Amino acid sequence: MKRKGILLAGGNSTRMGQLAANHSKQLIPINGIPMVMYSLATLKALDLDDILLICRPDECRQMSKLTGLDCLPQVEAKGIAQALLLAKDWLNGHPSVLQLGDNLFHGEHCTTQFSHANAIQSGALVFATPVKNPSNYGVVELDENSRPVSLIEKPEWSHSDLAVPGIYFYDHHAPDFAAQLKPSERGELEITDLNCEYLRRGQLTVLDLEESTTWIDIGTPHALARAEKYVQDSGCAPAAIDR
Ligand code: DAU
Repeated sequence: MKRKGILLAGGNSTRMGQLAANHSKQLIPINGIPMVMYSLATLKALDLDDILLICRPDECRQMSKLTGLDCLPQVEAKGIAQALLLAKDWLNGHPSVLQLGDNLFHGEHCTTQFSHANAIQSGALVFATPVKNPSNYGVVELDENSRPVSLIEKPEWSHSDLAVPGIYFYDHHAPDFAAQLKPSERGELEITDLNCEYLRRGQLTVLDLEESTTWIDIGTPHALARAEKYVQDSGCAPAAIDR
């Protein structure tokens, strides 16, 4: 069965402050184009069966009109892994790729690498890339053979500086595994816990994100300014990603 894409663009956008006071951050324009369109372009560049958008109930109409996608409301921001539960019926046994609507990916080999990931049939596949501030991300620790040994969400301290960016490839088991997750201390179904379940089963592949791929998690005003500059300097535009 062909993979289906889920674009997650809800949440509370609290770290964006005033910039997302009246709407969620994924609607903030970057070089005149709403943020969510850049993430959508990454998914559209892949050979997928269909793409579903999940967002705040009050923004479903607007987001659906903007993206042209069917939209499912997430009534409360109960965690990224909840997306797989909400999408379970829509997925209907298909494997999935979940992309966060505030994650920008761009680079010469980016689509090629994600297309290879799209070809995996079983288990889960995520990426790893070094960052200066691992405590802001899901972090993966690899052994000397580049195999994952642990995953931790926003660790205070870690042996590893490898962050897991917000694009996740799963086989058809993901909604069932997500249904077994318990909320974390902050009350969310953590995507890192879902990835841990695949790791526990020996079914998690971690690939180094291509060095030439720029990844920006646009969670803060500072990151937004970085994204704006990157888009202007690189000429990155959703139409160019979505080839
Ligand atoms: O950007 C990559 C990181 O994204 C990963 O390394 C982390 O493991 C992962 O937990 C996540 O961390 P963030 O702190 O960046 O997650 P945030 O709460 O900002 O949510 C990411 C996106 O998902 C954002 O576009 C809002 C959306 N979201 C989030 C939650 C919790 C939802 O639509 N619904 C939700 O319930």
